[in-house]
Amino acid sequence: MELSSGISEDLVARLSRAEHLVVFTGAGVSQESGVPTFRGPEGLWRNHTSEELATADAFERDPELVWDWYDYRRQIIADAEPNAAHRAIAELEDIYEGLKLITQNVDGLHGRAGSSSPIELHGNIWRARCTRELTVRQFLETPLAQRPPRCEACGALLRPDVVWFGEPLPVKAFEASRRAAESCDAMLVVGTSAVVRPAASLPLVAKHNGATVVEINTGYTPFSVLIDATLMGAAGGILPELVGRIAERRDAEGRLESTVRGGEERGSS
Ligand code: OAD
Repeated sequence: MELSSGISEDLVARLSRAEHLVVFTGAGVSQESGVPTFRGPEGLWRNHTSEELATADAFERDPELVWDWYDYRRQIIADAEPNAAHRAIAELEDIYEGLKLITQNVDGLHGRAGSSSPIELHGNIWRARCTRELTVRQFLETPLAQRPPRCEACGALLRPDVVWFGEPLPVKAFEASRRAAESCDAMLVVGTSAVVRPAASLPLVAKHNGATVVEINTGYTPFSVLIDATLMGAAGGILPELVGRIAERRDAEGRLESTVRGGEERGSS
């Protein structure tokens, strides 16, 4: 049976049979919370692209400009609430034991929606790192009183504790993500344009290892043709429906199993 969102019963069946589910998210999952994505028209800020601002070179040249951009984004995120997509992903933890959530987002909205331990591949915008001592601390002040902000201990510049273009991903987080992608039997890829490597390679690693890979996106991406299905539309609409149908199906199958087992036990007594 095909519903209007395009979620086929066959797809629900395949996903509900999975034992090891990975959810991989990008900026699109927070779009309905009012957090701008990186690419596309809303990704521009004062005529700069994220590629121009999210680099160590840009920070060296003009730390105030880069912190202005982060301060702007931090204020948006501070006012934002997790949306139906974040909440549906958090609910998946009740359905799939050991679910792994990997995000490229730095906004912390998955944690606020109730996801227990998201792997944050690109860091977190609410932490800052001293550029001299490399110490990392929680840094919640927004709007910033001092731009660029400085380390209280040594006076050196602070930078956001996020991964910039050209920088390596945190080793432990990437290793854990790669292992999860290699060993999962299903992956949901939500709201990412899948152009920033190495994070964007994870869905292909999963596919290569035999997993069912399904993306949820408002448009097609470079790997749409390589995976099992694209559910086209806003994540806040599609995910609650998908998660609800998986839960129903697993419930029904669970009830069916216990009915059969109950019948066998009664028959044997
Ligand atoms: P992008 O801005 O590149 O892509 C957002 C994706 O979300 C696009 O494919 C949109 O079609 C889709 N989208 C938008 N609204 C949506 C919605 N409501 N529901 C579902 N999908 C929606 O963001 P990312 O792929 O996350 O890295 O970008 C990857 C990385 O590039 C970011 O982590 C960041 C950025 O520069 C660094 O800063 C290192």
